[in-house]
Amino acid sequence: MEQNRMAPCIQLPLDNKLLESVVEKAKDWALMHGACMRSKTNLNKDVLQFAPFVLLPSTFPRREFQKAVEIQPILNELMHKVAHDYEFLSSSLKSTNTVDNFTRRLFEIYETVRKDGITQPISLGLVRSDIMLESACSGKERGSAAKSDPYCCWKQVEINTIASGFGWLGPASGLIHRYVLQELGRMDMIQNLPENRALQGLCQGMLEAWKLYNNEKAVIMFVVEDVTYNICDQRFHEFELRSQNPNVPVIRRNLTQISERAKLGSKKELILDDMEVGVIYFRAGYEPGQYHSENEWNARLLMERSKAIKCPSIYYHLAGTKKVQQALAKPGVLEKFLSPDKTSVVKEIFTGLYSLDKDEFGDRAVQMAIENPGHFVLKPQREGGGNNVYGDQVRTAVEAMKDSEERSAWILMERISPPMQLNYLVRPGDPNNGCPPLSDVVGELGIFGVVIGDSEKILVNKQVGHMLRTKLSTADEGGVAAGLGALDSPYLVDLSSCCE
Ligand SMILES: Nc1ncnc2c1ncn2[C@@H]1O[C@H](COP(=O)(O)OP(=O)(O)O)[C@@H](O)[C@H]1O
Ligand SMILES: [Mg+2]
Repeated sequence: MEQNRMAPCIQLPLDNKLLESVVEKAKDWALMHGACMRSKTNLNKDVLQFAPFVLLPSTFPRREFQKAVEIQPILNELMHKVAHDYEFLSSSLKSTNTVDNFTRRLFEIYETVRKDGITQPISLGLVRSDIMLESACSGKERGSAAKSDPYCCWKQVEINTIASGFGWLGPASGLIHRYVLQELGRMDMIQNLPENRALQGLCQGMLEAWKLYNNEKAVIMFVVEDVTYNICDQRFHEFELRSQNPNVPVIRRNLTQISERAKLGSKKELILDDMEVGVIYFRAGYEPGQYHSENEWNARLLMERSKAIKCPSIYYHLAGTKKVQQALAKPGVLEKFLSPDKTSVVKEIFTGLYSLDKDEFGDRAVQMAIENPGHFVLKPQREGGGNNVYGDQVRTAVEAMKDSEERSAWILMERISPPMQLNYLVRPGDPNNGCPPLSDVVGELGIFGVVIGDSEKILVNKQVGHMLRTKLSTADEGGVAAGLGALDSPYLVDLSSCCE
């Protein structure tokens, strides 16, 4: 597979002395401005360390960035409509639900509240569409004839409808890079770092939902993990909410605490520790491991039954599954949800997505995966990183499951091959004496959207900002909290200078 290379925004390498001094300053800048996380290997809740970051912003084609920003309201609309289409969710997830216990349990909650009658028709979507530049896009596909002009287009990796993180760390990365460029004496370059108001936009969305709930005393509840490593990202949301409206209390509870202390009031208000919850913002609940027992599942059902506005409601969560993403890529499906012009725009961002169901299409996908494992990523219905299968293991895994029903729990996706570029990866505890080596890295851009509405209408639909994560070009995945990726921000360039 072709893998282009893009020129870094500054000629590299930097002089060693300069590098050492800028890295040291940038680390301190990150620490002192909350671009931090808790250590996974040495947890101490009283201590933060800076989140891994790349020293320089990554080159990103301006036109492709703008296209990603402009398309976001269409993706918001799509996800909102998909979330409200019971028939579509139910038929898309049917085969998966027979073999994937976790997705089935989520779906059962949906069925239960549907039978009871949905108490709160309004949903809050704080979504994030993740994309990668595709260096293998042919000039022909993109309408450019010249092969010597490697045009980078982009493809969607996935769309997140639950716990879409980095609303703070995204903008914070841009701020690190502003500071670094200034220290390098390159103030002239700062104009190519796009403004990023993701945190403000996401929090404004939560407060708009809170207003719609219409009780001045109601609180916003963050549903959190038992231990939060990505604490700065979450707390900055809390601080921003309080700064936009100091009258709205914010509380944090894990699923176990909710199961022990929450109940429904006479009008199905969610009452917890004598407070009424107006908006529930899930930063946990997307992994089976976060449900230790039936208690946590009961807590999820109780919240779903309540009058609180959920971010996401259970059907929004289900709309964000990989199986639904794959179903949306089937011919003729997008047309059911979007106008023809919007459909053609969205079609272009999908890469090959294949069902592994036990039918002729699934059999064909199994064959493709076995013949060409390196061209694909194999994905189960999970979120949060570390669950997918890559490379030769795709073949091994598909061969092992090809005769069992289990394969319906997975989807097969064409592997995107983003262009590489050089950068310095700065990591806490790095042994290189403050002088990180130059590495080949690739990025994944996330665009944030806010959408509020019910099954009849969309009340709010906005694009609010972005985040960029970067990983070594040799790594399969790049989760920052998992220690594999690094914070980054886009440095926008005009196309002619995009790829070397
Ligand atoms: N089609 C793909 N091509 C290349 N890399 C991919 C592809 N799909 C996923 N990845 C890599 O795997 C990571 C995790 O996959 P993703 O679908 O986003 O699942 P999760 O829900 O765990 O975040 C992505 O961030 C990306 O680095
Ligand atoms: Mg992802």
